Amino acid sequence: MNTRRDFFRAAGIAVLAAQGAPAKPRRFTDYDTPARQLLSSLSLDEKIGQMTQPDQQYLKSLDDIETYHLGSLLSGGNSDPKSGNDPDSWTAMCDGFQKRALAARPRIPLLYGIDSVHGNSNVIGAVMFPHNIGLGCTRNAKLVEEIGRLTASETRAIGANWAFSPCVTVPQDIRWGRTYEGFSEDPSVVAPLGAAATRGLQWDDLVSPHSVLACVKHFAGDGGTTFNTGMPRGRNSTARYPLDRGDTRGNEETLFQLHIAGYIPSIAAGAGSIMPSYSSWNGEKCSGSKRLLTGILKERLGFQGFLISDYNALGELPGSYQEQIAQSINAGMDMVMVPDRYQEFIRLLKANVAAGKVPQSRIDDAVLRILRVKFAMGMMAPNANLLAVAEARREFGSAAHRAVARQAARESIVVLKNERKTLPLPRGRGRIHVAGKSMDDIGNQCGGWTITWQGKSGATTKGTTILAALRTVAGRVTTSTDGSGAEGADVGVAVIGEKPYAEFEGDRTDLKLAPEDVAAVKNLKRAGIPVVAVIVSGRPLVVDEILADADAIVAAWWPGSEGDGVADVLFGSHPPKGMLSFTWPAGGSTTFLRGAAGYKTLYAFGHGLGY
Ligand code: BGC
Repeated sequence: MNTRRDFFRAAGIAVLAAQGAPAKPRRFTDYDTPARQLLSSLSLDEKIGQMTQPDQQYLKSLDDIETYHLGSLLSGGNSDPKSGNDPDSWTAMCDGFQKRALAARPRIPLLYGIDSVHGNSNVIGAVMFPHNIGLGCTRNAKLVEEIGRLTASETRAIGANWAFSPCVTVPQDIRWGRTYEGFSEDPSVVAPLGAAATRGLQWDDLVSPHSVLACVKHFAGDGGTTFNTGMPRGRNSTARYPLDRGDTRGNEETLFQLHIAGYIPSIAAGAGSIMPSYSSWNGEKCSGSKRLLTGILKERLGFQGFLISDYNALGELPGSYQEQIAQSINAGMDMVMVPDRYQEFIRLLKANVAAGKVPQSRIDDAVLRILRVKFAMGMMAPNANLLAVAEARREFGSAAHRAVARQAARESIVVLKNERKTLPLPRGRGRIHVAGKSMDDIGNQCGGWTITWQGKSGATTKGTTILAALRTVAGRVTTSTDGSGAEGADVGVAVIGEKPYAEFEGDRTDLKLAPEDVAAVKNLKRAGIPVVAVIVSGRPLVVDEILADADAIVAAWWPGSEGDGVADVLFGSHPPKGMLSFTWPAGGSTTFLRGAAGYKTLYAFGHGLGY
């Protein structure tokens, strides 16, 4: 392959071939006529309102939806309804906003966005699927598509209609706190799974009552940032979160081969929105880059949907807020996640237009793109159901959805090491001693972006912990968090790894196991029994400290709410199928950047044992 164009073509063809018949690509331009007609009836204020997306928690009054002609609202990671985080409160909140928009003039329904990144993952009781890193190990595009469908349905169940997902990042340095949001370090895995997730979320038909608008993110190169260029830890601090929101360096060919590969099939699958990245490419912030947003994405890749900025990403551009707004909108941003300063944003964007700093034609293009998507979603039809979907609500958190999450957990698990046939565990007989901080912790096994932005340890939502799942299959089970008291058991199982985190809070400089995790394994081994280490984490970790003591090691990633999927593999009711979607590092590595000198491999990309 010589040129970027060859790569583009090959990637597209390979993905289509892998997926069978291509999904009907939605042509948003098919809705040009009605969208233009509506556009021509709108005032500048009404147009700018369509481009503005406040976080609902900052909305000063319900009437501001009409006063400012808002076209969209979101719930960021910690933005729950005031009355509580339960499906009824969410439904009342989202429906309340939508009803207000429908009573306004002009009557243009709201897009309500939420981070449904592994299920409708903000909401208590929703089914939590494994994070993308685990799904990457399944290599199962059909399953990922099905998860997209169920996620969409559980999102429509509460009245939201837009998921900020899928993340098609291709993380190159696993110290990055968003590694788990990526399906793989390799674009050949990311591209088909990203397209599958897009098709699933949008149900192949945006007018389906169960579908949501997908948002492919974060464009472009979010996973390629250079260590130490990440975001500052505070206004006056020279210390940095080393990778998040940093700078991705390299020429256009590298950008296309690694980081843009996931966008091409997702656009072909009809993705209606894309989120530009906080990060930079060769020193230029993506959110203000005309070359990336207009030149590459809209012109070269032919993207016909619209661009939504990341959460206050404009605030990271140089200059005053007014200048930041002008730069980003002129670069090609169509809608802005403000998220709090909506009145100021509207005033300053208007001032930019009046001063000729943002051309009217750019405003018209942005709003045309947004309206086309609203038409394509069927939202403008007089009989459209724009409120929470009752049928979807009946299935919210259902056993049928949980069964798919269990399958996904099971297929994502990778058996890294299995000496002396330690696995599978004996079913229904003998004694198993279970240990480790994550053995009985639904919050730990769901990871970040669960109920709250960062996620949290503890009984945060419904589901089956790994311990509860093991108990249903094992003979006798004894437990101790630190692994003590295992004497006389037939086998010890330590469920260890990382506690939840998200974004920059998850940037790490080393990837060692926590001392209490190493101790749990060692204590089990001291009892003279075979030991299985189950690693529950958002990325590969350095396991050298337990290598001598763990007879079997299993990567379970952050498997989600259905711990039964982990038990299925440990007991061998289903043989392990997972294959590493990331290289697994060995101790003594001086870097964790894929392919760099100083990165020592313990288990190669694609590794995964069977029984
Ligand atoms: C993240 C996005 C997310 C957005 C809205 C940002 O901080 O980077 O991935 O979609 O917040 O919650």
